[in-house]
Amino acid sequence: VFRASGLTTLPSILLLGPSGSGKTSLLTLFERGTNPADTHTSQSPIAVECHLPVGATATSDKYRSVNDPTANSTYKKFLLIDTPGHGKLRHHALDNLTNPQNLKGIIFVADAATLSAGDEGLRQTADYLHDVLLLLQKRMESKNKAAKKLRDIPVLIAANKMDLFTALPAALVKSTLEAEITKIRTSRSKRLLDSGIGIEDDAENDDWLGEIGSKEFKFSQMEEFDVLVEVAGGKVAGGDGPAVDKWWKWVSERL
Ligand code: GTP
Ligand code: MG
Repeated sequence: VFRASGLTTLPSILLLGPSGSGKTSLLTLFERGTNPADTHTSQSPIAVECHLPVGATATSDKYRSVNDPTANSTYKKFLLIDTPGHGKLRHHALDNLTNPQNLKGIIFVADAATLSAGDEGLRQTADYLHDVLLLLQKRMESKNKAAKKLRDIPVLIAANKMDLFTALPAALVKSTLEAEITKIRTSRSKRLLDSGIGIEDDAENDDWLGEIGSKEFKFSQMEEFDVLVEVAGGKVAGGDGPAVDKWWKWVSERL
């Protein structure tokens, strides 16, 4: 869909994240500006054209004169790409990373209400995030030219569903995911060692996310690979209506 001519030149933002975290709800809200109706679990990626809301300014507009007729029309439009979160359909999502079209950033949507210790959602979310970050870390080795062109890649972890009382605050979402990814990283490298693959040279290091030799994984370790990770809380639905200002601001700064 999103390779249709005319749309390819628009800057795009990719939505990733586990099933049920709220990607399609967010897409609906960004596209229509209204509270989303019921969503169904997604089976294929979709791309929609969005506009920055009035009041938000894209950084590339900062240096434009107010009289510049192109300022409003061209630079505030972007393509938002929704992907299915289900494990078996994730290749659709990751295709967008190996063959990116004018990609400006990734929003990884997490359900902040499923990230408590021992919650199955925590492992699933951290697993998926680990894989996305590893793919970005390894993008320079990729044979694909388009993937290599991705220089700086900003990743926003959108800690969604802040309206639910079980939701962790953004700072805790960050530290909890870092701790869980630390565990995943360790167990995967052990598995490699046990299988004998990691014995020769650096084979083992290739799949190690972040700083080699570090005990704890921190998102800041991704800066070394030009991947800038931020975490911000918000909600697409719930009681007092949506609150996605921080995410809009993040998007506007990437266009
Ligand atoms: P997949 O398509 O399966 O990958 O899921 P998805 O990430 O697209 O999730 P979707 O947008 O379909 O949302 C899943 C459920 O979460 C829906 O019932 C939404 O109404 C609900 N939801 C989304 N955002 C919020 C929120 O901020 N608060 C609350 N309480 N519910 C939300
Ligand atoms: Mg969906």
